[in-house]
Amino acid sequence: MKKYQFPDGFLWGSGTSAHQVEGHNFDNDWWEFENSVKLKKVATGKACDHFNLFEDDFDLLKSLHQNTYRMSIEWSRIEKKRGVYDRKAIAQYRKMLQALHDRNIKTFVTLHHFTNPLWFAETGGWENPDATLFFKEYVEVIIEELGGLIDFWMTVNEPTFYVYYGYILKWWLPEKFSPKAAKKVLTNMITAHNEVYDLIHSKIPNAQVGSSNIMIYFFNHKEEYLVRRYVGGLTSNIFNFGLFLDKTYKKHDFIGLNYYFPVKPFRIRKSPKILKTDMRWEIYPEGIYHLLVDTWKKYKIPIYITENGLADREDKLRKHYIEEHLKYIHKAIEEGVDVRGYLHWSLLDNYEWRMGTEHKFGLVEVDFHTLERKPRKSAFHYADICKNNGLK
Ligand code: BGC
Repeated sequence: MKKYQFPDGFLWGSGTSAHQVEGHNFDNDWWEFENSVKLKKVATGKACDHFNLFEDDFDLLKSLHQNTYRMSIEWSRIEKKRGVYDRKAIAQYRKMLQALHDRNIKTFVTLHHFTNPLWFAETGGWENPDATLFFKEYVEVIIEELGGLIDFWMTVNEPTFYVYYGYILKWWLPEKFSPKAAKKVLTNMITAHNEVYDLIHSKIPNAQVGSSNIMIYFFNHKEEYLVRRYVGGLTSNIFNFGLFLDKTYKKHDFIGLNYYFPVKPFRIRKSPKILKTDMRWEIYPEGIYHLLVDTWKKYKIPIYITENGLADREDKLRKHYIEEHLKYIHKAIEEGVDVRGYLHWSLLDNYEWRMGTEHKFGLVEVDFHTLERKPRKSAFHYADICKNNGLK
């Protein structure tokens, strides 16, 4: 039987983001959106109350043999109003990060994971020419107060998705179709990343700084897979998912790669044999291999898988899903791609953007009434992989 042994020091873990698990993030734009008449039924509320129950969650993480955790810091908790910093919130994040260090768990920290402080959104959010300045002011506080406890920094999460969903598809905030605004926002996020990279390095010279990027594997019309970065036909390229990295890769110590699903043109979306998650996303593990090879060839920068996972309420597919993706990651490593870690999405069942808590992404099941946590069977399978640094 083939053994898939991973390189020494490979990082194994899982991730969350603040708004999806913490609960009671009253001061950001998503809270307001969820609680609007339109989306009333899908508000985060107390979510997993991870902001208070983190000690138990980290014990669980440790008992599952994971050595790395990805979390995000909620900007709106730190800076409720421009220039007014909440010392209590900062202290709580310090406790969280310290709790991870005490357990010998490496920390990946995302500085912006989709949500914006209300005051920032009201100034036009990332469309505002001053967005980078505002973001840097917040990051400076994080560097000063929490910098020593952050092993891996991720400036922004999936900037191209953020822009595509919010400014092209109109599905996320600010729900508008405007290629012009989309361009502005992405440009500002690119600048913010590049400047924050320098800022962090000016204070912590050996910091590891990157970003977290969604990568999509596209089918072509002949049902062959191909690595492509544009949405829309060749003549109407409306969006380039590769643009952010193309403009920022020189300011990356590592690349965070997030992979979930391939995309097919509508007219050939059939193949009943392909397994699908509860959200009807097709499972195509080979895609991660091609994206890794492509990313490595293009940028030659170490890569961490910072998200890969599925909605699977019954936990029927998760074990298979993890194993198959890991086999393809292993294949890429064998062929020379420098992949250094795998962070499953997610540690906990959580709030899924715009959809609420019905979709179960967690290795650990969460009862949203009692807040009880219960690792799923697949969490124990994954724990064996983490412990053995590989699988058979
Ligand atoms: C996001 C997560 C989200 C996951 C599943 C990623 O795009 O970073 O916040 O929960 O996908 O949809």
